[in-house]
Amino acid sequence: MNPTDQLVATPAPASLAAWERCRRSVGGGVSSGQRATAAPHPLFVDRAAGALVWDLDGREHVDYVGAWGPMVLGHSHPVVLEAVAAVLPRLQMPGMGHRGEYEAAEAVLAAVPGAERLLWSNSGTEAVQVALRLARAFTGRNKVVKFVGAYHGWHDSVYASVTRHEPGERATAQTRGQNPHALEDLVVLPFNDVERVRAVLAEAAERDIAAVIVDPVLSSGGLVAPDPEFLRALREGCDGRGTLLVLDEVITGFRVARGGAAERWGVTPDLWTCGKAIAGGFAHSAVLGRADVIDQVSDGVTHSGTYNGNPVALAAVEATMRVLAEPGTYERLEETSEQVLAGIRRAAAATGADLRPYRVGSILSLGLTDRPALARLQSLLLEEGVLLLPTGKMFVSTAHDRAAVQRTETAFARALGRW
Ligand SMILES: Cc1ncc(COP(=O)(O)O)c(C=O)c1O
Repeated sequence: MNPTDQLVATPAPASLAAWERCRRSVGGGVSSGQRATAAPHPLFVDRAAGALVWDLDGREHVDYVGAWGPMVLGHSHPVVLEAVAAVLPRLQMPGMGHRGEYEAAEAVLAAVPGAERLLWSNSGTEAVQVALRLARAFTGRNKVVKFVGAYHGWHDSVYASVTRHEPGERATAQTRGQNPHALEDLVVLPFNDVERVRAVLAEAAERDIAAVIVDPVLSSGGLVAPDPEFLRALREGCDGRGTLLVLDEVITGFRVARGGAAERWGVTPDLWTCGKAIAGGFAHSAVLGRADVIDQVSDGVTHSGTYNGNPVALAAVEATMRVLAEPGTYERLEETSEQVLAGIRRAAAATGADLRPYRVGSILSLGLTDRPALARLQSLLLEEGVLLLPTGKMFVSTAHDRAAVQRTETAFARALGRW
């Protein structure tokens, strides 16, 4: 989309101007490609606090973008900021050992039952890369099973069959410029298909399958709750066949429960990949898992990264874990998420709008697959002061209070009335 081609009158003219300027220095005018799909154009913001964001025109919005997942505590949670402010003047970035590494690791491992060790990295993409390398090294096998619609980061070896998939088990590349050979070791199966998973994993050794990686809510594939039988089939299918189960909890971790999807649906993987919410809005991620798998990093498996385990991010991780461990946190988050959903449903019913929203924990989906209809609704909601992802997903945080929930319902009622 070219900003000068904007046909709709925008409720955010300063953002449109900023995007035009940004495109002259930043490729595409956005720092992560998907942000360009926001309707009617990417929003440029000046300030955020709790559940609210202020754009460059000074307009206030209730925010459900949540930085695309990390802001489970809302923007600029005081405990997180305080921890970061405390460490900054003392130790910015040593590239050597420091106390924060194990203090934050202990806090994370305490939150995730069954995880024995972790490795620090900077993004979900990196964590997935490390996890798959560990799995291949541990098993001496090459193939990895992923599911249609699942996004596990943008690296060549797993960025496949997310938004489109050719029939069969072969991976479909997602982007121009992707090394097609990097996808040769991917096996792609339908999500929640218990029978297929059982059949394929029964032959895991013969088929050289090192790992199964699964985003338990298929967050990029339309948000789908996992069939508990499916997760059981994955665990049982890997057990005894020398295959590792990697639960990609970059979205679900510390969000659908303190111990993530593993806790919520009672499945213990061999490795977890975590990012986003782990650091409450700072850039960090981790691979958690069995000690014998993780400890391969002391035995010939490379895991590197200049910024891994930096004190600033780890102060944020430790503080985030501390806040999330407060009793009642997840009960309240569920309750708020249900109220947001109920409000949207009431607004849809009142206006007769054909909208079937649903939620998995604190992640909501409007359930709209018609892109133009979704884009129009996103534009109308922008006018009404509610922000959601271009995919129609909404991340609820612990900072969304009664007033934010009420404003959301009102905004939906008004937007749906004109949709
Ligand atoms: C399930 C899942 N895994 C991995 C990633 C990649 O994380 P990052 O964007 O931090 O590299 C994402 C990003 O949205 C994700 O949703």
